[in-house]
Amino acid sequence: MKRIGVLTSGGDAPGMNAAIRAVVRTAIFHGLEVVGILRGYAGLIYGEFKELSISSVGDIIHRGGTILLTARSQEFMTPEGRTQAVKMLQHRGIDGLVVIGGDGSFRGAVTLHEHGIKVVGVPGTIDNDIPCTDFTIGFDTAVNTVVDAINKLRDTATSHERVFLVEVMGRNSGQIALAAGIAGGAESILIPEYAPNFAEVSEKILRGRDRGKLHSIILVAEGVGSALEVSKEIEERTGLDTRVTILGHIQRGGTPTAFDRMLASRMGAKAVELLLEGVSNHMVGIVNNTIVSHEIEWALSLKKAIDADVYQLAGMLSI
Ligand code: F6P
Repeated sequence: MKRIGVLTSGGDAPGMNAAIRAVVRTAIFHGLEVVGILRGYAGLIYGEFKELSISSVGDIIHRGGTILLTARSQEFMTPEGRTQAVKMLQHRGIDGLVVIGGDGSFRGAVTLHEHGIKVVGVPGTIDNDIPCTDFTIGFDTAVNTVVDAINKLRDTATSHERVFLVEVMGRNSGQIALAAGIAGGAESILIPEYAPNFAEVSEKILRGRDRGKLHSIILVAEGVGSALEVSKEIEERTGLDTRVTILGHIQRGGTPTAFDRMLASRMGAKAVELLLEGVSNHMVGIVNNTIVSHEIEWALSLKKAIDADVYQLAGMLSI
């Protein structure tokens, strides 16, 4: 292997730049050339390539977003798009590819592997919804962003004695809501993995009021549905004044935490080492603080479960 490519695809996540930096510097350390592919699979189809040097990834470890830009490519879903992407890689003499992204990006990686390209995936998504890894790059930063928002909302919620519903990202996953809810001391956490019990949520709010509690913070993962709808339900049941905050894409930005930078550095380096060993169709993960790798298709056949103990803990600490 002489020359590898790296791309970021799907939703961006804080720490992706640290992963790109690790890929580039590890590859150069081992004598490889590195090509950055812009705009994910879309850029791959159109040959948007850029040679990367040691210094081209300087001063990016602390930056959110991705210097390679990202996209969700419909064209890559078609057989023609994929054939064109493979041709581009072959034409540019790229022997291996590191794909940094979420589950959709990993599915793309599998199809490239089926076309004979050596590919390794690095999990980069704030959702933390990829199996075979305890954490994905960007999750920790997003959780900290949500906790910061909860701290601020709690001030105004207390002053006005209101119930706040905070909608957080996580397409089909309650990972962000659960972690931020526990760390932010939320009264209830609604996640798609467990059916919402509005009666219980409302009773808990009213019990808190009886004890003299002035505020209530309810976290709603977007996979559960709209926080606006949930707020109507809660208002009807409690008769209390509610407000809704949808945090949206603010969760995807910002300087990555030290945890995410470290994770991205370790995972990016491992991806290059796997390619050098001739491994393909694998994703990097971290399990019990050890960097591991698993076959992508196998990993994607699993469903990342919510830790039931952690979910119960959330309920117990917010009685
Ligand atoms: O997968 C990451 C994610 O941020 C999800 O949490 C969210 O549902 C989705 O991307 C939003 O995607 P887009 O930025 O394309 O609207």
